[in-house]
Amino acid sequence: METALTDSLETTATISVRDLRVNYGEREILHGISFDVNRGETLVILGGSGSGKSTLLRTLVGLEKPSSGQIWIKGQDIAAIPPSEMDAIRKRIGMSFQGGALFGSMTVGENVALPLREHTRLEESTIEIMLRLKLEQVGLQGFEYYMPSQLSGGMKKRAAVARALAMDPEILFFDEPSAGLDPIIAAGIDQLILELKQAFRMTIIVVTHELASAYLIADRMVLIDKGNIVAIGTTEEMRASTQPRVRQFLDRVAEPEVSRELDYLQMLTEDRRSK
Ligand SMILES: Nc1ncnc2c1ncn2[C@@H]1O[C@H](COP(=O)(O)OP(=O)(O)O)[C@@H](O)[C@H]1O
Ligand SMILES: [Mg+2]
Repeated sequence: METALTDSLETTATISVRDLRVNYGEREILHGISFDVNRGETLVILGGSGSGKSTLLRTLVGLEKPSSGQIWIKGQDIAAIPPSEMDAIRKRIGMSFQGGALFGSMTVGENVALPLREHTRLEESTIEIMLRLKLEQVGLQGFEYYMPSQLSGGMKKRAAVARALAMDPEILFFDEPSAGLDPIIAAGIDQLILELKQAFRMTIIVVTHELASAYLIADRMVLIDKGNIVAIGTTEEMRASTQPRVRQFLDRVAEPEVSRELDYLQMLTEDRRSK
């Protein structure tokens, strides 16, 4: 087992988490968790509310400091490096967080260009081209002069994704990407995530409690409960799991309404694939 973990550190894993513990004050939220994220895969982090999903994501991108353990991102232990070096790593990852809203006083284009203006010395004309490209990637071509308040919920989410893509990250993190969106718009965001994976071969980590979405986008899933990993495996393995806590979580949410949504999502994907 030990050897297998070491091997994966050197080969396919883009992110390796080992014995990760995170506290808020006296209270431990993540109790020593370990897992790998392989290059180019979409890993979905599932779990009930308050189980520690957002805390895990925030820790992976360096916004929370672990109390112990290791987080290897592309061969560097980000739990051990000084904050100054974390900046360089953060430039290579994109984040789209639940609360990561757009700046209301800037146009959509300015929002998307912000990371480029902050972190690069690119010519203004180059930045203009890049921001249009990013907006195109998320299906928002022509919207650069709009204000965020003029966009629908789903479009705002897309614009935030465009901003996360600005620096051409190799790894993308999403926290509840379709929270608060109606099912059809949410399905569109799932499609966008699938496209980013397929067209740009990005490594994508998505936190969600939406099972329909998880089944659609995940290569592998990790189920977290109260700060511990209950199970990790491919979507098929999770579906077939007989572990009581996995069944409890997966079956609890699979109520009729959700299944209908799932059927709809599958239809969308098949429709895309057949094109
Ligand atoms: N900044 C914080 N300070 C203190 N406690 C927090 C903070 N953020 C989250 N928590 C607590 O940590 C636990 C895990 O929260 P969170 O990671 O947001 O869970 P999830 O995203 O799975 O809903 C919850 O009990 C929550 O109340
Ligand atoms: Mg959360």
